[in-house]
Amino acid sequence: MTLAELENAKAESLKEVAAANDAAAVEALRVKYVGRNGSIPALIKAMKDVPKDERPAFGKAVQAWRAEVEAALAAKGAGSSGEKSVDADLTLPGRWWGLGAKHPLSRVIEETARIFGRLGFTVADGPELENRFNNFTALNTPPHHPSMDRSDTFWFGEDCLLRTQTSPVQIRTMMANKPPIRVICPGRTYRRDTTDATHSANFHQIEGLYVDTKPVSLADLKSVLAYFAKEMMGDGVTVRFRPHFFPFTEPSVEVDFTCHVCKGKGCNVCKQSGWIEVAGAGMVDPRVFGHVGYDAEKVSGYAFGFGVERIAMIKYGIPDIRWLYENDVRFLSQLA
Ligand code: DAH
Repeated sequence: MTLAELENAKAESLKEVAAANDAAAVEALRVKYVGRNGSIPALIKAMKDVPKDERPAFGKAVQAWRAEVEAALAAKGAGSSGEKSVDADLTLPGRWWGLGAKHPLSRVIEETARIFGRLGFTVADGPELENRFNNFTALNTPPHHPSMDRSDTFWFGEDCLLRTQTSPVQIRTMMANKPPIRVICPGRTYRRDTTDATHSANFHQIEGLYVDTKPVSLADLKSVLAYFAKEMMGDGVTVRFRPHFFPFTEPSVEVDFTCHVCKGKGCNVCKQSGWIEVAGAGMVDPRVFGHVGYDAEKVSGYAFGFGVERIAMIKYGIPDIRWLYENDVRFLSQLA
């Protein structure tokens, strides 16, 4: 195509655009001239065949043609379904920036702190690296108890270990304060367990402790745990106690919640029993008071401890403890 022919073609195309009087005609012309296989892109592609000395002038003319046709088409509303064209397409969906979700374990810990907070409990803290006295001796654990074995506990020398329970925070709290004491102690705990669907070498517990100079009874413990069960798991959930043994409580109990799925009728979740085991608890053993310098004749109290993973798994129906540590957003975001 010579320059003169190009000018003719351009004049023709502009005339056609000017004559187009509906959106379909405008679109057809857009495709014909500036569409991917339109005549202007074809000319640009064929540029290499234009003699070298004519190329700059020819190129300029093609670009001018393109600009004028596009302007004419735009004036007729091309590409915007007949509406006035705007710079941004306001009909596109917005960008999703991926809001984070709170981890189920954090949810359970925070919810527990809120529930016990209403009953006057505050949150106490202790280190994950503990000594033998706080983790075992002061909790009245006999010297050769199997939980102290190297095969059960991560030891660093004779007197230093990764705490196997949050109960040592009871000892620290009592040694640093005078009764009345009302605390819960959430935190990480460690045991030499092989990981499977229900075990992890690193898990979380929440300890609870109430000590007072006025008499504290097992009935107080039961009412507080019953309130916790209802608030955490929903109406219709209550507690039952089963006799058990812990070195640091006497009497000791294991605590079951009514199965929150079947409300006690029996289902697959509670293995038809209507109950789910969730915690250990009991009245603080007088020997523990002795270890922290309290007069066991003058104070009494209760303690309890439960696994955070266990509560999260039953509350949210999580079948495998490992899901809680994989940080897979597809899992975590389901609670957002
Ligand atoms: N420390 C116990 C455990 O890890 C749980 C426990 C039971 C804590 C009874 C308590 C308690 O405070 O009174 O299995």
